[in-house]
Amino acid sequence: MSDPQPVYLSDYQPPNYQVTHTELTFDLDPTATRVKARLMIERHSEASDDAPLVLNGEHLTLLKLALDGSPLTEADYRLNDETLRIEDVPAAFILESEVEIAPSSNTALEGLYQSNGMYCTQCEAEGFRRITYYPDRPDVMATFKVTVIGNATSEPVLLANGNPVAQGALENGRHFVTWEDPHPKPCYLFALVAGDLHKVEDRFTTMSGRQVALQLWVEQENLDKTEHAMASLKRAMVWDEQTYGREYDLDLFMIVAVNDFNMGAMENKGLNIFNSAAVLTHSNTATDAAFQNVEGIVAHEYFHNWSGNRVTCRDWFQLSLKEGFTVFRDQCFSADTNSAPVKRIQDVSFFRTAQFAEDAGPTAHPIRPDHFIEITNFYTLTIYEKGAEVVRMLRNLLGWEDFRRGSDLYFERFDGQAVTIEDFVGCMAEVSGADLEQFMRWYSQAGTPEIDARGEYDYAHAEYHLTLRQRTPATPGQPDKLPLHIPVRMGLVGTKSGKDLPLTMNGETLGKDAVIHLREYEQTFIFTDVAEAPVPSLLRDFSAPVKLHFPYSREDLAFLLTHDSDGFNRWDAGQRLAMLALDDLIAAHRNGVEKVMDSRVVEAFRTLLTGQVSDKAVLAEMLTLPSEAYIAEQQPIIDVDAIHAAREFVRQSLAMALRDEFIAIYNDNVSDEPYAPTPEQIAQRSLKNVALAYLMSIEDEQGLALCEAQFAADHNMTDVRHALTLLVHSDRDDLASPALKAFGQKWAHDPLVMDQWFTIQVTRPQLDVLERVEYLMQHPAFSIKNPNKVRALVGAFAQNRVNFHRLDGKGYALLADVVIELNRLNPEIAARLITPLTRWQRFDEERQQLMREQLERIKREPLSSNVFEVVEKALA
Ligand code: PHE
Ligand code: ZN
Repeated sequence: MSDPQPVYLSDYQPPNYQVTHTELTFDLDPTATRVKARLMIERHSEASDDAPLVLNGEHLTLLKLALDGSPLTEADYRLNDETLRIEDVPAAFILESEVEIAPSSNTALEGLYQSNGMYCTQCEAEGFRRITYYPDRPDVMATFKVTVIGNATSEPVLLANGNPVAQGALENGRHFVTWEDPHPKPCYLFALVAGDLHKVEDRFTTMSGRQVALQLWVEQENLDKTEHAMASLKRAMVWDEQTYGREYDLDLFMIVAVNDFNMGAMENKGLNIFNSAAVLTHSNTATDAAFQNVEGIVAHEYFHNWSGNRVTCRDWFQLSLKEGFTVFRDQCFSADTNSAPVKRIQDVSFFRTAQFAEDAGPTAHPIRPDHFIEITNFYTLTIYEKGAEVVRMLRNLLGWEDFRRGSDLYFERFDGQAVTIEDFVGCMAEVSGADLEQFMRWYSQAGTPEIDARGEYDYAHAEYHLTLRQRTPATPGQPDKLPLHIPVRMGLVGTKSGKDLPLTMNGETLGKDAVIHLREYEQTFIFTDVAEAPVPSLLRDFSAPVKLHFPYSREDLAFLLTHDSDGFNRWDAGQRLAMLALDDLIAAHRNGVEKVMDSRVVEAFRTLLTGQVSDKAVLAEMLTLPSEAYIAEQQPIIDVDAIHAAREFVRQSLAMALRDEFIAIYNDNVSDEPYAPTPEQIAQRSLKNVALAYLMSIEDEQGLALCEAQFAADHNMTDVRHALTLLVHSDRDDLASPALKAFGQKWAHDPLVMDQWFTIQVTRPQLDVLERVEYLMQHPAFSIKNPNKVRALVGAFAQNRVNFHRLDGKGYALLADVVIELNRLNPEIAARLITPLTRWQRFDEERQQLMREQLERIKREPLSSNVFEVVEKALA
């Protein structure tokens, strides 16, 4: 077999043939499902008369093929593993086919597969070709009529997109339902579900007064876990009407929960399919974070109905067109529904850890890649989250009103079409008159731009000179970078007054909080009439996805921590202050010097703990140290042990110095109110639990007692899981073991809780985790075929820095073993799982060597194109 070849954006050609209408009949059977397709096909007006018809199809057994009613024989077409080609076709015709597929042996979870006996589909990006022969590309849009035939007892519920139009009983205990979707759609939005499902139903009246039935379909035992998703859906529907003027467009909206799913959820038209982890919640089984995650994902998929479905992507290089925009929309929704500053802090802190790492690694790619081997490898943080940051910059550059007008124009002009990123940005430029030419580089240039900032206060002239210099490091295939248009939101905080000073530039008053535009490699901005020496507050609210360096002193940071008017930058000042202390401690650890805690960090924390608390959720974030992964991102060479030791030292020093304050915070925030996932309650719980974590880091006697009591009280999963995690991650195995056992027995029947049970155990810092992972992989609740289990156990282990990076290389070998097995079963998940190994360049030579050995070992296997592409890049 030759190596898989990439496809290039520059090779894009419009399709020669359109499918205008698609009729499908599924006769379901685990090992031999029959799929009949009847496609109405028309030649594109610009295609030549002799253009062949080429359809995609993989893992299909072709049984019948007919053109305009006449059967075709093997002489009439050519078939290979990937395509069906018919040389001679008329300008308009009907193509009928029948194929056989085997859902029960589909472990890749793409196309039609079975999960817990239930049938379901996943077609994005290129899964439809595993269902029938079809032009499987998003710029072919057809109306669909789908008949599903199943067994009346094992599949009483038969669902597809759109509205049910017919149903009835058939012979041999079979029955059928026919569905019609009037909105033309690409085949990646097709969906089918069949099984013994139960529904929770609600209604929604749209802004124009149309009635929509809302249905959430789950297995019977999960009927009590749907309330939050349903409430979230209704909130999202209202929000999209009020914020973007977007209304739902069918009479029925369905969500189905399935246990085996590669991703979070999928926006199939009218029939969203969700990973059960992304939809099911109950106060006893799901944490606050899970509740918020569900709310965000339900909204995300719903918002896709416009940003993705009504207006879709021309080709998969444009993936960020729908994903970046939709993530931005769901982020704003969650910010409006919960605490906006905390949402921003959490998103940015995740982004700076994970997306920056992706941008700095061998798989770095632009938001719009120009080539790929396997599109499923491009559902990345860059496409999603960096794509959202770029849309956010557009919103900020234009202001909300123009941005909204641009969005209206985009939806109106391109409704029912498959379009490009230029089409989207073009609408924004058109309504606002903004020049976005340079801005477009954000879409084509990979890597994280870095800004080196310098500032100088000129007392004599009352001026502040701010010099910003940008550079974007080379990424694979892109050695040289052009300067980007970077909006830097900022203020100057007066060191005497502690207030934002008025900003004047070139005689123009800009207010106290302004955006300056960095477009060149280097620019100096001169602020005049600056009455007192300021500390600059730069990149407020993370106004651009860049790394900003400024030589802040610790006093500057302590000052910003208390005085910056921008909540996000107050938090960031705290993070920077902690980072300076951590850097010293990492160096001390490496040099074998005694570690000394920076008293300024202790005092800053004391101020936070004893000051006026305006927002508990923000305070909880401010008291949280940068994660080991984030600290690692800041180091030239990652020293796993030094980072862990330094961070533990800071945690314990803070806990010892501020023990009484933490106890007080804990006690002030316990509550026995019945659980509700409200922003107020969530804020209280996070603050209380942060305090408990500090106390447990020193195994404080009173802290231990509080922790045990919190576990025993069994009030809600947030508190129970947190307490259990702290016990298991402490050295008190005498307390941890019985708790872990009790928890495991109590929840043995609930797969989503068992996922948490796995994760808690394999993220502990003690050096016995590898053996635990091996042991737990044999546990009856584990299955390598279930992506959630793999993520909860193996994926979580690979994030456990001290254990995964053991110097005997056994952590790497374990991951490689699992990748090799999954390469055969589920290539998409296998390719994702390798990520930590691909970052080998960042580690010391010994570890580099060990990681590369495992990548080489994987490479010697017969590889799926998914794993091939990642390993190839990692070893390039
Ligand atoms: N399009 C889905 C989303 O972002 C993600 C997805 C991609 C799901 C591919 C399944 C397969 O909402
Ligand atoms: Zn999406």
